[in-house]
Amino acid sequence: MAVGRAVVTGGAGFVGSSVVEALTGRGTSVLVVDDLSTSAASNLDRLTGTVELLKHDIRDAGPLRAAFTAFCERLLTGRPLIVFGDGTQTRDFVHVGDVAAANLAAADSPDLPHRVYNVGTGTEVSIRELLRATATAASADPDAVVAVPAPRRPGEVHRSCLDVRRSVAELGLARPVPLVEGLRRTLGWIRSR
Ligand SMILES: NC(=O)c1ccc[n+]([C@@H]2O[C@H](COP(=O)([O-])OP(=O)(O)OC[C@H]3O[C@@H](n4cnc5c(N)ncnc54)[C@H](O)[C@@H]3O)[C@@H](O)[C@H]2O)c1
Repeated sequence: MAVGRAVVTGGAGFVGSSVVEALTGRGTSVLVVDDLSTSAASNLDRLTGTVELLKHDIRDAGPLRAAFTAFCERLLTGRPLIVFGDGTQTRDFVHVGDVAAANLAAADSPDLPHRVYNVGTGTEVSIRELLRATATAASADPDAVVAVPAPRRPGEVHRSCLDVRRSVAELGLARPVPLVEGLRRTLGWIRSR
């Protein structure tokens, strides 16, 4: 991208800091606008390149929380994992680096035919499968991980998977990072915090 400077709102967070990392990796200097309500400035410490942080609230939104980060922190500290419902509910888990790459691909292409793109893998993964894959990524025995069932949350969507055909075709995205590899990288990021 021929952009010398970019602004990333929420850039100190989990997704945002990966976008910042991808930008600085290509020589773009970045202004992060973040109120640090759910993150810490130290998330930016690992980045090389020019990154400036402006602590600022951009809207009236409440705090955001990445449920998966909490899930990993419990696994890494040996605490039981809480599974709402029977664990057969599914989601489409995409690695944060792929989310950053999709954002950059969209920013690189001002003449895209659409304004909204799904960023995912197109693969449905159940919470049970995620739990086992996360244990594998953490080099733990998947059978030894204790999941404490909790009542299904009212109104929760049972199955969720994204149609990524448009984003693959129009953003030219590479194949997504495989689940266990993505989890391994994410666990490394959480351990380093
Ligand atoms: N992490 C995931 O797996 C995931 C999955 C699906 C969707 N999302 C969505 O992506 C977004 C980012 O997720 P994340 O995991 O990076 O969360 P995060 O909490 O790590 O990052 C959000 C960042 O925004 C900042 N922020 C919040 N309110 C602000 C405000 N008013 N002004 C300025 N900065 C503000 C926070 O301080 C934080 O740095 C969220 O909307 C989340 O729901 C995340």
